[in-house]
Amino acid sequence: MSAVSFEHVSKIFAPRTLGWRGLFRPPSGPGFQALDDVSLTIEHGEFFALLGPNGAGKTTLISVLAGLCQATQGRASVCGHDVVNDYQAARRSLGVVPQELVYDPFFTVRETLRIQSGYFGFRNNDDWIDEILANLGLSDKADENMRALSGGMKRRVLVAQALVHRPPVIVLDEPTAGVDVDLRRSLWEFISRLNTQGHTIILTTHYLEEAEMLCNRTAMLKGGRIVALDTTKALIARGGGNLEQAFVQIMNAQPSKFSEAQA
Ligand SMILES: Nc1ncnc2c1ncn2[C@@H]1O[C@H](COP(=O)(O)OP(=O)(O)OP(=O)(O)O)[C@@H](O)[C@H]1O
Ligand SMILES: [Mg+2]
Repeated sequence: MSAVSFEHVSKIFAPRTLGWRGLFRPPSGPGFQALDDVSLTIEHGEFFALLGPNGAGKTTLISVLAGLCQATQGRASVCGHDVVNDYQAARRSLGVVPQELVYDPFFTVRETLRIQSGYFGFRNNDDWIDEILANLGLSDKADENMRALSGGMKRRVLVAQALVHRPPVIVLDEPTAGVDVDLRRSLWEFISRLNTQGHTIILTTHYLEEAEMLCNRTAMLKGGRIVALDTTKALIARGGGNLEQAFVQIMNAQPSKFSEAQA
């Protein structure tokens, strides 16, 4: 049983309605295809990079896994649990650090983490919460209100929230955007330790040197399709000498959806 599996996953977002009149009219048009027949298996213990330019479909794929959006076709599972039919077990197995900063301004950092623990049925979770806070450099902010934190600190809390239930699979959607050098280092040390302990890590990032340093395998998405999938070493060997150059070569070799449609 693999950690994560996507089988022929496609996602077409419903067409938009135009203006307020759309409230009274059915939406027209074909909709937008964000994912196109994505099949991918990630094994337990992998540190996996999901790369692609803006709009490639990375967050949409993660949202399908997290049950935040439903695939139009295909199926996805976490630790063997189907994300639709067995969603409770799938969500317990997964911790997602979202790309967008979302937080409740009425709670302190510790309250936020206790509430998140409660969602997963953990009552006396403070030892683990303290360990997470220490590893993310948040111990002295534990009793601060969320709205009083800087942007980078809020992002640290999002990382902490994803870890409170000790999920076997951890997905980080651009976790280091806007984060200072110190946290990047301590975050990667902590996440690498969790990976060594057996947690599966899936990372999306536009900092390709981070992916190169950390990830054993890499998938590249473009226009909702997987255009490369291999060990990070093999992808680097294919071109350029580092992952960023390999990425640029692979992306340039792929026609964009627009030019395909014109052809
Ligand atoms: N709710 C939605 N409705 C319509 N289109 C959407 C929706 N969410 C995403 N899209 C579109 O789907 C495509 C993929 O978006 P997605 O957020 O998955 O990209 P991404 O690879 O995560 O990009 P980034 O690197 O900028 O985070 C984009 O063209 C986006 O505009
Ligand atoms: Mg994204």
